[in-house]
Amino acid sequence: MPQGPSLTREISETGSIPQHIAIIMDGNGRWAQSRYMPRIAGHKQGAEAVRSVIKACIERGVTYLTLFAFSSENWRRPADEVTSLMQLFLAALEQEITKLHENGIRFKVIGDISKFDPKIIESIHTGEQLTANNTRLTFTIAANYGGRWDIMQAVRKMVAQSKDLPLNFEEENFAQYLSMSYAPEPDLFIRTGGEYRISNFLLWQLAYTELYFTNTLWPDFDEHEFELAIQSYQQRERRFGRTSEQLQIVLSAEG
Ligand code: IPE
Ligand code: IPE
Ligand code: MG
Repeated sequence: MPQGPSLTREISETGSIPQHIAIIMDGNGRWAQSRYMPRIAGHKQGAEAVRSVIKACIERGVTYLTLFAFSSENWRRPADEVTSLMQLFLAALEQEITKLHENGIRFKVIGDISKFDPKIIESIHTGEQLTANNTRLTFTIAANYGGRWDIMQAVRKMVAQSKDLPLNFEEENFAQYLSMSYAPEPDLFIRTGGEYRISNFLLWQLAYTELYFTNTLWPDFDEHEFELAIQSYQQRERRFGRTSEQLQIVLSAEG
């Protein structure tokens, strides 16, 4: 599905199940350290949580799931942790792609993957091509991703490709160059691990997303925790700048 109208402009259909969930999976290191285990053990356990969230999304009819796996700032971590994360990513890609495909899941990666090992780049491309026509769930991994990087690469592409671009170009002219232009903007953002920040994740796309923060560490985020996030989302009123009364009128007209 192409990107819908910007959520900041239209009264969009805001069903009780978010169409697109974006998650910052945080707290792997603390999960491991509290068990006197190396941080990488937390990342391994985190991969299990990914499986249960994919399953929960399919069961609940969520059609886009985007996970922040490695930020453009995470290169600042100790070299051995970065190397282990890359190995884990490659192993997960090689092991899981067939299963994703069998389950009708489209796999996508956003971020500057040119910095990755060629084996990882190849696995990403193979996985994306294999699953390109699947429609049940679009599962995106943000890897070496940064929200500012995304905006900058979009500006560069737009300028390079559109010599006749009028100076008064619109949001839509620009948004089509963002790396997630194939998806609607996220309805629900979840961050685990007790930090209250966006950490340079999807900056443009989160403009009107409902935010949910939990202290639960990512490896402990299971289907029950997922349900709590959905329940919290269902209690929100998405007004997009309007008044509650205006929304009631639109809803009753649709009704
Ligand atoms: C999130 O867990 C995973 C990545 C950033 C790759 P962390 O590794 O940030 O875990 P904490 O925040 O140190 O507990
Ligand atoms: C953010 O996690 C990025 C990912 C989950 C991949 P971090 O744990 O690195 O975030 P900060 O730097 O502490 O905000
Ligand atoms: Mg962290």
